[in-house]
Amino acid sequence: MTQLALTINGRAHGPMDVRDDLTMNDFLREYLGMTGTKFGCGAAQCLSCAVIVDLPDGTSHTEPTCIAPAASFDGKTIRTIEGHAENGQLTVLQKAFIEHFAFQCGYCTPGFLNEGQVLLEQLARTPVARADLEKTIADALDGHLCRCTGYVKYHEAVRDVILADPHRFLKGG
Ligand code: FES
Ligand code: FES
Repeated sequence: MTQLALTINGRAHGPMDVRDDLTMNDFLREYLGMTGTKFGCGAAQCLSCAVIVDLPDGTSHTEPTCIAPAASFDGKTIRTIEGHAENGQLTVLQKAFIEHFAFQCGYCTPGFLNEGQVLLEQLARTPVARADLEKTIADALDGHLCRCTGYVKYHEAVRDVILADPHRFLKGG
């Protein structure tokens, strides 16, 4: 057994004892009942299980949870799909996903949403030139697999959110 304490969507959990072989995905879904984080390939290949990890320097990135031991998240601050909307209000990115019909079964959506949110926050800190935007979005969402093949609509949704607020996300916007 290992001790685990972490912050999820702004709320402290633990310290608690968890089995060494418990994955982070099972911890979220089975222990905490947070089933928004999905389990797809189970091999760190599709990123449907990815959550946001917030670092002390103010940057964030996503990490898959399907094969990562829950104990490896000890001391971390993370966000999951359940942490995006506030007081029932969807974020602009969530609204854009809906408006673009970006998902079909929705299984990959938590991973795409987390990655898109990380990208928006990164661009708010470090805007890119309009000419580099398509590649920036493609690079950010690369690695997220959608079995329903909704890639284009996800890209369009993220792009629309960025272009709707160019002063925030684009260099010289
Ligand atoms: S389920 Fe974790 S990467 Fe596919
Ligand atoms: S919407 Fe079904 S896997 Fe992406």
